[in-house]
Amino acid sequence: MAEKLRIYGGRRLEGTVVVNGGKNAALAIIPAALLSSEPCTIENLPQVSDIAALRDILEELGASVTLAGSSMTIDPRGVHSTFVSEEHAWRLRASYYFVGALLGVFGKADVSYPGGCAIGSRPIDQHIKGFEALGAEVTVDNSMICARAEHGLHGAEIYLDMPSVGATINIMLAATRAKGNTIIVNAGKEPHIVDLANFINAMGGSVKGAGTDTIRIRGGRPMHGCTYTVIPDQIEAGTLMIAAAATAGDVLIRGALPTHMEALTAKLLEMGARVDEGVGEDSIRVRSDGNHRHVNIKTLPYPGFPTDLQQPMSALLSTARGTSIINETIYEMRHRHLDEIRRMGGQSEVRDRIAIIDGVPKLTGCAVTATDLRAGAALVVAGLMAEGVTDIYNVQFIDRGYEHLEKKLSQLGARIERLPADAD
Ligand code: UD1
Repeated sequence: MAEKLRIYGGRRLEGTVVVNGGKNAALAIIPAALLSSEPCTIENLPQVSDIAALRDILEELGASVTLAGSSMTIDPRGVHSTFVSEEHAWRLRASYYFVGALLGVFGKADVSYPGGCAIGSRPIDQHIKGFEALGAEVTVDNSMICARAEHGLHGAEIYLDMPSVGATINIMLAATRAKGNTIIVNAGKEPHIVDLANFINAMGGSVKGAGTDTIRIRGGRPMHGCTYTVIPDQIEAGTLMIAAAATAGDVLIRGALPTHMEALTAKLLEMGARVDEGVGEDSIRVRSDGNHRHVNIKTLPYPGFPTDLQQPMSALLSTARGTSIINETIYEMRHRHLDEIRRMGGQSEVRDRIAIIDGVPKLTGCAVTATDLRAGAALVVAGLMAEGVTDIYNVQFIDRGYEHLEKKLSQLGARIERLPADAD
């Protein structure tokens, strides 16, 4: 049943909230469990629809999956298939991590083309280049990625044209089961790449240098079961930080890792909010009087400002004093939520990848539609700030990446409810 979020705006967020496990980390770690010859238990998983989709794929392949709260135990010993159907693959982008994992283990993968948010062209040439360097033959059409390595994979040195998160992860997965050593140069440095490396190492693999731009993988080591806890969600933490500032609130965000949040923290401070790191625990407190200055933002690979937080941040900037300029260098279609925020009274202009936002004194609630996951988060921030009632349609996008966002915000004092999409 289609649903919407209804927000009665203008309420200050106050209190303590706990961040869930990282969605993007979990999306890499769950397929990686196939690399092991024994069951693995992955803890601290967020309960979001992207994770449910990966579970369906694991079961389609023949793995046995047991869920207990936020833990998932994956027993890969029953895997009998290397085919991922369109029915499951289209549900998310990360379904293509099964290419790397299956190719590594079985020398073969037939994975239907992935879906995911429509935020730009999203080519996969760097993934393919990596698989080919490892000795695979890869064919791709609009409906299927087919990879074959009849004689197994071998280590290689692979230079990425850009530090692609997905290509780095996919190559790490395949290279872990290849014979010999692989070096990925110009690798992604995102926290969830480091988390995947730690998980592979916990299973007996050898990945060094994750978090720097050169990753070294010793392939072909025996892999065993383990229990592993996923890192906190950097983007959920950032969204909550932005929501706290947007409502002139005072929120302690527990479980957030301050080192992962530095780019956002710097911008919130520049805007005039107060951000304090927890002493003796992983937490961040954001306080604001709601009087924000404009800032400029350029999205970049980690440790630069994350593209995934650009959209919620631009909602906050729509009421900051002065003109903010956002340069979206990663995905060309990540300004579409500004069309909706303009309906709420925001003033902005988009020229190609640049958005120019002229801050207005206030937004006014109305019916708006999320076009992708983080656009949905941006509209939630806008709705929390706005005067009056905001109805956000296409909630299924938000549910892909945020576990019960409305419950967390309600606990902090927001008035927000989930309703059938056709409710008055
Ligand atoms: C991941 C994240 C996503 C985030 C993005 C950038 C997951 C599941 N998703 O997406 O939330 O917004 O990182 O931080 O972790 N590119 C190519 N060729 C390739 C691969 C990528 O040209 O083969 C380009 C893309 O079009 C994009 C840039 O490289 O412009 C970065 O993409 P990438 O880092 O691969 O993003 P994803 O892994 O898809």
